[in-house]
Amino acid sequence: MNLKDLYINYFVSKGHKQIPSAPVVPENDPSVLFNTAGMQPLIPYLKGEIKHPYGRRLVDYQKCIRTNDLDSIGDATHHTFFEMLGNWSLGDYFKEESIGYSYEFLTNVLKIDPNRLAVTVFRGNDYVPRDTVSANAWMSHGIKEERIAYMGEEDNWWPNMEAYGPCGSDTEIFYFRSEDEVPKVFDPSDERWVEIWNNVFMEYNHNTDGTFTLLPSKNVDTGMGLERVVAILEGKNDNYESSVWENVIKEIESVSGKSYYGNEESMRIIADHIRTSVFIITDPANIRPSNTDQGYILRRLIRRAIRHAKKLDIDISGEWINKICNVIMDEYQGYYSEIRENRNVVIDVIQNETIKFNKTLEKGLREFEKIINKINDKLIDKDQAFKLYDTYGFPIELTTELAKEKGLRVDIDGFNERFKAHQLLSRTASAGKFKGGLQSDGVVETKYHTATHLLNAALKRVVNKDVHQKGSNITSERMRFDFSCDHKLSEEEKQKVEDLVNEWIKEDIPVNKEIMKKEDAIKSGAECMFLDKYPDTVSVYSIGDVSRELCGGPHVSSTKELGKFKIIKEEASSQGVRRIKAVLSDE
Ligand code: SER
Repeated sequence: MNLKDLYINYFVSKGHKQIPSAPVVPENDPSVLFNTAGMQPLIPYLKGEIKHPYGRRLVDYQKCIRTNDLDSIGDATHHTFFEMLGNWSLGDYFKEESIGYSYEFLTNVLKIDPNRLAVTVFRGNDYVPRDTVSANAWMSHGIKEERIAYMGEEDNWWPNMEAYGPCGSDTEIFYFRSEDEVPKVFDPSDERWVEIWNNVFMEYNHNTDGTFTLLPSKNVDTGMGLERVVAILEGKNDNYESSVWENVIKEIESVSGKSYYGNEESMRIIADHIRTSVFIITDPANIRPSNTDQGYILRRLIRRAIRHAKKLDIDISGEWINKICNVIMDEYQGYYSEIRENRNVVIDVIQNETIKFNKTLEKGLREFEKIINKINDKLIDKDQAFKLYDTYGFPIELTTELAKEKGLRVDIDGFNERFKAHQLLSRTASAGKFKGGLQSDGVVETKYHTATHLLNAALKRVVNKDVHQKGSNITSERMRFDFSCDHKLSEEEKQKVEDLVNEWIKEDIPVNKEIMKKEDAIKSGAECMFLDKYPDTVSVYSIGDVSRELCGGPHVSSTKELGKFKIIKEEASSQGVRRIKAVLSDE
């Protein structure tokens, strides 16, 4: 049995309910691009203001993406995507039980030798005392005193002292990952000790006025990085040699005709970046390669993977990338239905991006050669880097990587300045990508935003009451709306939907906003796309008795402002999801 199943089964046997992984793209928090930790979707519950529908003991495996250090991908231990195993107590058990579970799981279920374990606990600060409770709990299970290190807030406070919201001290569990003899005394700065599990005792809220107050309940939030622990259990120092990656690396070896050994960096980058792309593409937010936000991360991941494939002399116009995607999807589809249901979408999106990039890659590489023949101070300046981006589609890390291989540097800061100015422009042009996360509230975008609510309501009445929104994308030119539906809409259905929306527009129905607790909003029958992704206080927009949805807005004040609504296209988006493109015009 694999680690994921062992973990879930163990905690289920201890009264925990398994919750599904939340989407990796937060639906209603435009401040972050991706979920970076398993607990992020649970913040409202950790705050204790609303009860979790599954109870007070939860367990899951959560999709996480961290892209702040793309550059370090290529080494033996970093990944942009990873799965975090987590168990939670929402005001149920606390330190002693949590530590008991962790110890039992590691030593009894995973059969890890206790002599290879060590822990850190919180040393205390001006507000919070030294955590002797945790230290005593560890010792009661046989962890020796010299294997317990007391650390300060920079190490044993989660997330950190600056972050607002639920927080607390933690105890971190380390494993001695080396063939050397295990030292008697634990030294956390000795890199042979690697952190495997973090148990956070969330009992405080860091308020925006700087104070720390006690949360209504004492919670536990633990997180264990799956990739790392699997590697450890299998005795591998290189994560990419573990069973998590075995089939993927084998496939890359097969399509390149080269061995992993000697080509580690490129193969790791290809494996990692394609896996993350698969998870981004299949997430319900429907992210596609673009030049902003998550779409730009996706584009960079795919393009960097292609560049490394070229480095390995893979024929990049061939089937290689589909083959790798298929192996990855085989590995994960049993655990993630969104992958199972979107295999064709993944292949389509990745193929399109590959075709697009292949057209410019060759030319871009020639331009790069030209540039380096011209420069004399070993520096590629911001305009050269920007040209490579703008004309040839080279993300900055691709240029930096090429430069590094030639012993050159790139004016990254200069590039970033130009890039930001450029991005701001494209962002304003495509405002309103995220429902509830509108970046700009232009008049036209606002109208489209309200129109999505009417369209959603009309589809429910005409097609089926179980139609649900799966995503939306708004520009000043049109709206796109994805919804669950198992068939192509007939002409008659389309006409009826369009007529109904136009009828509601004519009726000049006022749009009302109420602020309320999420729980009450749901009770009141408001519709929402991803429950877990909303903060605990939400706004609910209602349009007469036509529609009632949780939403961040903004909206017009009355439906008449929308003008005339017209469906211009209805097509498949992915398995079981249809897509409507529609426009508003002035008469
Ligand atoms: N929130 C903590 C972490 O991400 C434990 O889950 O490490």
